[in-house]
Amino acid sequence: MNLELEGKRALVTGSSAGLGETIARLLAAEGARVVVHGRNEARTRAVAASIGADAVLGDLATDEGADEVAKVAGHVDILVNNAGAYPHHTWADATPGRWAQTYQTNVISGVRMIQRLVPGMRARGWGRIITIGGGLATQPIAGLPDYNASLAARHNLAVSLARELGGTGVTSNVVAPGAIRVAALETVFLHMARERGWGSTWEEIEPRVVNEVAPNDLGRFGRPEEVAAAVAYLASPLAAYVSGATLRVDGGAIRGV
Ligand SMILES: NC(=O)c1ccc[n+]([C@@H]2O[C@H](COP(=O)([O-])OP(=O)(O)OC[C@H]3O[C@@H](n4cnc5c(N)ncnc54)[C@H](OP(=O)(O)O)[C@@H]3O)[C@@H](O)[C@H]2O)c1
Repeated sequence: MNLELEGKRALVTGSSAGLGETIARLLAAEGARVVVHGRNEARTRAVAASIGADAVLGDLATDEGADEVAKVAGHVDILVNNAGAYPHHTWADATPGRWAQTYQTNVISGVRMIQRLVPGMRARGWGRIITIGGGLATQPIAGLPDYNASLAARHNLAVSLARELGGTGVTSNVVAPGAIRVAALETVFLHMARERGWGSTWEEIEPRVVNEVAPNDLGRFGRPEEVAAAVAYLASPLAAYVSGATLRVDGGAIRGV
């Protein structure tokens, strides 16, 4: 299928690693002119160079960082708000300062890019905003309370934005991954598995982690490519009649209609 992304300019925030990197690679392979973004200069430039994309650096938890990213990115047709972090806080150690920092990094980061880039999309009468949310937005766990809540805020603001953009040619949607196998998450679970005696290789521990921590109908972690495919669809002109939607890519982890 031709996704008709040829020539569209796409900024994927947090594409120096993990899900964002895979999303950037797929959009570039589909013919989009991609801007790779991160804070780590070496990783960001390496990913960009490998796919012939532009690179931009900036901490989106700050106004200055967002200004720089928007300035270098310039005209953007497709904004993928993916940058974010999941620090391993518990209710006991998630201080108000940590809650505020998680909100800055995971929520206001995306709002900053929306405020800087959506006016141009509106003026041109075409645009796509895809927000990366997650299953914990609607089925929070005991741990990572500040992270769960930040995902809920992302889902909520993406739908509000869709309502705001009605009839403009610009859509706003959410892709909600379950547990996806990226290096950052693998490290967390390998550490947990060693502490619990579940084994030391990913192949040994994946079934245990899935059963105990992230149960889903398919019995495995998702792959970043499976999330990227959902983003590419929502970014394409083919998804013109989809706005305010949540597309779950979670192996059926979330129990709901
Ligand atoms: N992996 C999963 O299972 C999963 C599930 C649901 C949702 N998500 C969401 O998907 C997104 C990507 O997660 P991931 O697992 O791919 O994590 P990751 O591998 O750690 O990648 C995170 C990316 O975000 C960037 N980033 C973090 N804080 C930033 C900031 N303040 N300003 C600018 N960039 C920042 C990082 O850039 P640098 O490293 O260059 O600083 C990196 O490119 C996150 O928003 C996460 O909440 C992930």
